[in-house]
Amino acid sequence: MPGLEAEVFDMATAIVRPGFDASRPINLGGADFTEHKYDWYRWLLEEAPVCEGKISVLKIGLVARYEDCRLVLTDKRFVRSRGRARGKGSSNPLPIPMPKSVAVIARSMIYEDDPEHRRLRNLVNKVFTSRAVEKLSDRVEEISHELLDDLGEQNQIDILERYARPVPSRVITEMMGLRKEDVAPFQHAFGVLTKGMSGLRILRTLLWDLRAIDKFVRELIAQKRVAPSDDILSALIQAEEEGDRLSENELVAMVFLLIVAGFETTLHLITNGVRTLLEHPDQLARLRAEPELWDSAVEEIVRHRGPVHGTKPQYPTEDVTLHGHTLKRGTPVMPLLGAANHDPRVFEKPDEFDIARSPNHHLGFGFGMHFCLGAQLARMETRVALRNLFDRNPNLRLAVDPSQLKLAAVPGWHRHASLPIALS
Ligand code: HEM
Repeated sequence: MPGLEAEVFDMATAIVRPGFDASRPINLGGADFTEHKYDWYRWLLEEAPVCEGKISVLKIGLVARYEDCRLVLTDKRFVRSRGRARGKGSSNPLPIPMPKSVAVIARSMIYEDDPEHRRLRNLVNKVFTSRAVEKLSDRVEEISHELLDDLGEQNQIDILERYARPVPSRVITEMMGLRKEDVAPFQHAFGVLTKGMSGLRILRTLLWDLRAIDKFVRELIAQKRVAPSDDILSALIQAEEEGDRLSENELVAMVFLLIVAGFETTLHLITNGVRTLLEHPDQLARLRAEPELWDSAVEEIVRHRGPVHGTKPQYPTEDVTLHGHTLKRGTPVMPLLGAANHDPRVFEKPDEFDIARSPNHHLGFGFGMHFCLGAQLARMETRVALRNLFDRNPNLRLAVDPSQLKLAAVPGWHRHASLPIALS
């Protein structure tokens, strides 16, 4: 679609800004895209539903509309494994050479197709039941109240660091059954990992930090083999499906996946939820008056300002042409979940935040066989964390003007660098 410039963009609700141009790859990590994501999405949905983007130097096909995202995530012509799409078997899942320790971690089920994916998912499904999640809800209540007690009378705080981060981080360490003395090193190690995945830090993270964490996880597995307890890691070690078990490397990859997929996501959903509710005082007042709407409110936060805006790449096994744009065999394609969740073809008044929206079949937890394994846990953690925060702090408000809030420039994500709030 060469030459589609902002001038041809004519939607009543749209903010026309210069810079929209589908003849050049859209830089998903660029400051302009990060700061004006929802303007871009509105434009993509109407004018460039399939186009080319880039993440750093890597070119990637982008798909914006709801139905097209679902197609890319379910149509047999698209696969997850890069090697398979290129007819090379499932080798390196990433388009860059990797050290061995990284390769092990990157071989998790999120990069696999069936039957390998189904095998790994069945084994983890056995331990990740809704009963196991339900059992945790009392603990999440306690953790949330302890953290809120600690905030005490302080006025201005960064709610991301002081509350949204520790809630899921403590939940995941308890789920993994870490000993008290292991919690701090564990949190430090994974903090380094998740903070180090941008800019020049990536290299250090890939070559050094990951190796250290790999060692840490293997030691943890060794401890649990000797002394299993009532936790997810022990259950994963013992999980068996028709005589099949997870190998040591698969266990390491699974632990990484559960921690990275379960921790960064939830922390940013809680943070985005705080901001969204504070920016919609009418909806917050309604929620306070009708607390039975909390479940539906969390669902709407995931749709309206969910943290995950793109899945892992899907690869076409043949050239696929959509809306006149050809997605070439073997090249990465990213369904833009954040755009799809604002597609007016599916959602009435998509840019409105409506805590009672129904139906609300958003794609914020993905779609198809890689649909989020932890969706139930994430919903429960977020509901408990937000509800307690707002119930205990009736005067909660943003401590800065919204124009001062900074989003982190991480492709495929919608996350804040910090969120300063005042408690009273
Ligand atoms: C706000 C919270 C969360 C959001 C928005 C979220 C979102 C997503 C999305 C969009 C996918 C699909 C990715 C893709 O297709 O490439 C996914 C997959 C996954 N999520 Fe979540 N997630 C959240 C929380 C969690 C939690 C708490 C856990 C577990 C502790 C978890 C574990 C996983 C796993 C294991 C997968 C891969 C499933 C597979 O490959 O079959 N997620 N998540």
